[in-house]
Amino acid sequence: MCGIFGYVGSRTASPILLEGLRTLEYRGYDSAGIFIPGNAPIKAVGPIDNLAKKIESPLSGTSGIAHTRWATHGAPTEVNAHPHTDMSGSLAIVHNGIIENFRQLKEGLKAQGISFESETDSEVLAKLIGTLYKGDLLEAVRSALAMVRGTYGLVVIANNQPGTIVTARMGSPIVLGLASDGNLVSSDPSALLAHTKDVIYLEDGEYAVVTKDFYQIMTLKGQKRDKKPETVEWDVEEVQKQGYEHFMLKEIFEAPEVIKNTIRGRLLVDKGRAKLGGLEPVLDQLTSLNRLVIVGCGSAYYAGEVGRYILEEYAGLPVDVELGSEYRYKRNLPDKNSAVLAVTQSGETADTLASLRSAKEQNLLTLGIVNAVGSTIARETDAGVYNHAGPEVAVASTKAFISQLTVFVLLTLLIGREKGMTQEEGEEIAAGLEKLPEILEKYLKDTKAIEVVAKKYANYRDAMFIGRKFHTPIAYEGSLKLKEVTYIHAEAYAGGELKHGSIAMLDENFPLVAIVPKDDVYEKMISNIEEVRARKAPVLAIGTEGDADLEKVADDVLHIPKVHPILQPVVTTVPMQLLAYYIGIEKGLNVDRPRNLAKSVTVE
Ligand code: F6R
Repeated sequence: MCGIFGYVGSRTASPILLEGLRTLEYRGYDSAGIFIPGNAPIKAVGPIDNLAKKIESPLSGTSGIAHTRWATHGAPTEVNAHPHTDMSGSLAIVHNGIIENFRQLKEGLKAQGISFESETDSEVLAKLIGTLYKGDLLEAVRSALAMVRGTYGLVVIANNQPGTIVTARMGSPIVLGLASDGNLVSSDPSALLAHTKDVIYLEDGEYAVVTKDFYQIMTLKGQKRDKKPETVEWDVEEVQKQGYEHFMLKEIFEAPEVIKNTIRGRLLVDKGRAKLGGLEPVLDQLTSLNRLVIVGCGSAYYAGEVGRYILEEYAGLPVDVELGSEYRYKRNLPDKNSAVLAVTQSGETADTLASLRSAKEQNLLTLGIVNAVGSTIARETDAGVYNHAGPEVAVASTKAFISQLTVFVLLTLLIGREKGMTQEEGEEIAAGLEKLPEILEKYLKDTKAIEVVAKKYANYRDAMFIGRKFHTPIAYEGSLKLKEVTYIHAEAYAGGELKHGSIAMLDENFPLVAIVPKDDVYEKMISNIEEVRARKAPVLAIGTEGDADLEKVADDVLHIPKVHPILQPVVTTVPMQLLAYYIGIEKGLNVDRPRNLAKSVTVE
């Protein structure tokens, strides 16, 4: 949420900062700005291109800071855009997070004669640091942050110390990049890859002073920290479009590769087992749990719901699934022998992180299914599984969701085999999972039918999604994807729920998308479709290849390959994602960066 980038080195900074912002644009695209010491800040509303147009020739200066914003306090205007400066314009900051006591601080500063231009909490922080700055930037930042309540990923630079960046972290990620021609600061390691793979993640309560060829990390109390750089595994190509028109399309088409990467070295097909190295230290605890509580937000929550269905059905493990934004605030009454599993692509989602911390306070075992290596949640869990899905750039999650479902299949195998799943069943699931990438590769060779259907359904204002059992969460995920990238109003229900109220909305202008593979609830789903057809609503069914009966009850059918039932949700997800994508394209929308959204929701 919001992208931060800073550079101090020997090269001209402004092109480097703009390039960094382009990589970070998915984190927020309401406005953007840069500050190079010795120059006034340059800001623009809208995408980075608008900012780039204002900087036709590079600014002189070999250091600077930059920001791409997802508005929290204050409208997305130029005045509210970062960087924010102090009263005299002698220093500038970029900030992620929320300063909770900014109103009080602002009143105090106003009483000292300080005036404000913007409505933002971040400007208050800039002005506060400015009043405390007497030549020692680190000291000014430290004193200011001691007065602040809230969260921050902060980068500060001053005109009279252009070779020094001060950065601090509390709740919003900051990562340093160590390159041969200088050092960098970013909110996301993906923006550093063009320069270096050597990075250092700051922890909450840590500060760093960074110059061209030096860095020093300290704690809030001024203790020096000796942190060794880590190597990022991702390659720079992974954060580029590689010939696809959009990141979303590229990431959907990466599904076969993502599954391969997720299962690599983790599947023992001839034993019908899975091996998850990251969970090995807690294996005994895991296989004797009374209950697993899965926590996530948005798509990750829906992946958790699929996890619940399959873990209960095939591993016999009782599971609850909780929204991060609820779990953290409610009174939880955990069984001592339960564990909390956070599911998160970014590893930085504030509500998921807070839930994890509250589980820790209750002395529960904490686990993670995390894509972003080195992220806060990955570091704070007792044990976990990395997705290895590679960086996800499109704002709407697609490949990470596929990978999360895949990890849940591995987890079901791992726990299930310890809790009574037969070797035969284990082998069947493992063999099916091993073959899945090939099946999806073939499926993705021809997506024309989805494009055709998308053209037809793009003209509706509403859509209803239904599924049953394993496909109920896929219906929810399908409706979320459609809302996000097409702005069509969409709702989702378990198939049997419609007639308890929501069917009242359906008519010839309100289509139904039904996920209806040939499984043990197929007949029930057909009945639900019939109920809807009786209300004249158009029906688009996602059904199994060769299911000719479906054509008799649905207006349109998209066929999917039949796989083992535990794997079927992975397959039904793909046409859901493509449907949203193609409808978004049909409507001429920016599918990679839907309005009002940002990747990585680090505010609460
Ligand atoms: C939807 C989407 C979001 C995320 C949610 C959690 O397409 O991307 O709903 O799934 O914000 O994010 P992570 O997985 O990073 O915790």
